[in-house]
Amino acid sequence: QLERALRPRALIDYIGQHKTKEQLSIFIQAAKIRREALDHTLLFGPPGLGKTTLAHIIAHELGVNLRQTSGPVLERAGDLAALLTNLEPHDVLFIDEIHRLNPVVEEILYPALEDYQLDIMIGEGPAARSVKIDLPPFTLVGATTRAGMLTNPLRDRFGIVSRLEFYNNTDLTTIVARSAQLLKLQIDNTGAAEIARRSRGTPRIANRLLRRVRDYAEVKYQGQINAEVADAALKMLDIDQSGLDVMDCKYLEAILYKFAGGPVGLDNIAAAIGESTDTIEDVIEPYLIQQGFLQRTPRGRMATELSYSHFGLPAPSTKA
Ligand code: ADE
Repeated sequence: QLERALRPRALIDYIGQHKTKEQLSIFIQAAKIRREALDHTLLFGPPGLGKTTLAHIIAHELGVNLRQTSGPVLERAGDLAALLTNLEPHDVLFIDEIHRLNPVVEEILYPALEDYQLDIMIGEGPAARSVKIDLPPFTLVGATTRAGMLTNPLRDRFGIVSRLEFYNNTDLTTIVARSAQLLKLQIDNTGAAEIARRSRGTPRIANRLLRRVRDYAEVKYQGQINAEVADAALKMLDIDQSGLDVMDCKYLEAILYKFAGGPVGLDNIAAAIGESTDTIEDVIEPYLIQQGFLQRTPRGRMATELSYSHFGLPAPSTKA
């Protein structure tokens, strides 16, 4: 996979997320000193900020294997049991989209997390019996876009809970420069900064845009990337001057023009722009809220003054 080539393998090469990095570094070292499995760890935050990368780094730093799966893939208790019984001591089991676990699977996960014990039924009808299997000590690393989507009993079983934030421009510029170096691109600081500034605070987007800017530069500018070339390429990709993409604009324009600036309910916006409410809540809204384009109120979503001015509209008359 393309994205993989750019992923840092060690914590020291992971840029940004300073709080998370500092905490994980300490907890990992402590677990190693005590020769214990690391506590179960929940990583949450918007897509593309590096949750999967961190899970791999955790396993690498612990010097153990990582087994990877995702919530929707584990359909039956036996699917999870198969994974758990194949772990070696202190291994990491990474479950992406852990908020989408089948309740039946989640149920057998609890004793596994708490006591390293598997409690499963084998067989059916009168021949069915319950068997207990001892598991090796292991670390569950769970990833989700919103911690609030986990059931309370599941969330309570994570000893380490870490929220990933959008990257600031400085850190994201460093990531773009690092990726460019790995891809052997000719890019100056202005080019890296321009791509970073327009990547929604998200390394996955920055790395994708970097590849598209490279295409543009190779075809039109002998591969030389600077701010002007990056700007021209990003314009072609419909990334606007504030780094908003087509979906961001469609979303904000719906609130501004179809719903008079709001407040408007999520379901109404979803219907108006033809996106799922999950995508809107997980992908679109977090960045717009963080950047001050959008406000969530008890009565619904509202465009902010920044949104009005961004689209060249006069500020709304203050409503009663
Ligand atoms: N590539 C993607 N995310 C990264 C990060 N946080 N640090 C370094 N390289 C990355």
